[in-house]
Amino acid sequence: MYESSTQSSNDSERTAFRKAEKKYKLYYETDTKKSSSKRQKQPKPVDLSDVLDFKQVLNGEIPSGIFKLQSDFDFPVFCIETHPGFYFIPEALSIEEQCHWIRESLTSFPQPPNRTNHHAIYGHIYDLFIAAQKKRVLTQAEALDLDFASLQSSGIETRWHFSGDNTTVQKEDSAIPASALLRKLRWSTLGLQFDWSKRNYNVCLPHNKIPESLCQLAKRMAAPSMPTGEDFHPEAAIVNYFAAGDMLGGHLDDMEADWSKPIVSISLGCKAIFLLGGKSRDDLPVAMFLRSGDMVLMAGQARECFHGVPRIFTDKENAEITPLALQFSNQEDIGFLDYIRSSRINVNIRQVF
Ligand code: OGA
Ligand code: MN
Repeated sequence: MYESSTQSSNDSERTAFRKAEKKYKLYYETDTKKSSSKRQKQPKPVDLSDVLDFKQVLNGEIPSGIFKLQSDFDFPVFCIETHPGFYFIPEALSIEEQCHWIRESLTSFPQPPNRTNHHAIYGHIYDLFIAAQKKRVLTQAEALDLDFASLQSSGIETRWHFSGDNTTVQKEDSAIPASALLRKLRWSTLGLQFDWSKRNYNVCLPHNKIPESLCQLAKRMAAPSMPTGEDFHPEAAIVNYFAAGDMLGGHLDDMEADWSKPIVSISLGCKAIFLLGGKSRDDLPVAMFLRSGDMVLMAGQARECFHGVPRIFTDKENAEITPLALQFSNQEDIGFLDYIRSSRINVNIRQVF
């Protein structure tokens, strides 16, 4: 599913999807002048004139090929004629709701038994976000350490844990600053755990149900895409964390049994470009902006369409996170503000069976 853009094996560099990824991906200006080497790297300008903007659509500028769904749903919902099963709900979440889900994504979603990309290296680690705020470091517990022995006997696989702060434990070679791990947090999985090595859900892995409030939100927002008389039962969610320069290469989400059920996808933080392709990588994808608070549903035929995120914008002008920044302006929220100023979070919720 998450094939990285660099592993484009037999998938030729010339597919229409790959071309679009290259067009929108972040490249930096190559600066030849020595004197300017101290200046910050400048992103190369990119032509955004072909990017569909649902904020403008919401304000009444409906381009050809886009239509408003006729329904009594609480929010305006837009569809793309060429992509049945795809639904865009602009500004679906209030600023308060966005802040709530950003907090959850950083504090509770990465908590064990949920796995993150750090699990393969460090096993379960707890309280990453708090540890980063407190400038703690991750160190390996000594095998003789009593605490570790008792943890082991209780069946908890914790060999790495946060301790001290950057300044006191600096001498330990193996100490990793929590802030670095937070920056490298790439994904976490809620509910049924997705096994990335086998590319399927591993129902044997210990897991919690996805949080009830997230489940309710997903059920409510899935409504426009649901076959009449059927219910959406969220069982798993994948949370993606993007920093400047990160991208999610073109992929299909095909490990869920019933493709008539949607993937409900929430965008938080910095604005991004989303590419919605066709069933083949040779089909020209539609590029669109995803802003904090937007939601997308992919069901039916749209489940068979390649899609990805080639770009997030972290510069002031394009990130469009001023309202979020204001909401996080209290001193106690400084950690969330710092994080989200240069990051995007995507929560996508799935029914697996
Ligand atoms: C995914 C996905 C899209 C996004 O995680 O499968 O397609 O908006 N995410 O980040
Ligand atoms: Mn996907």
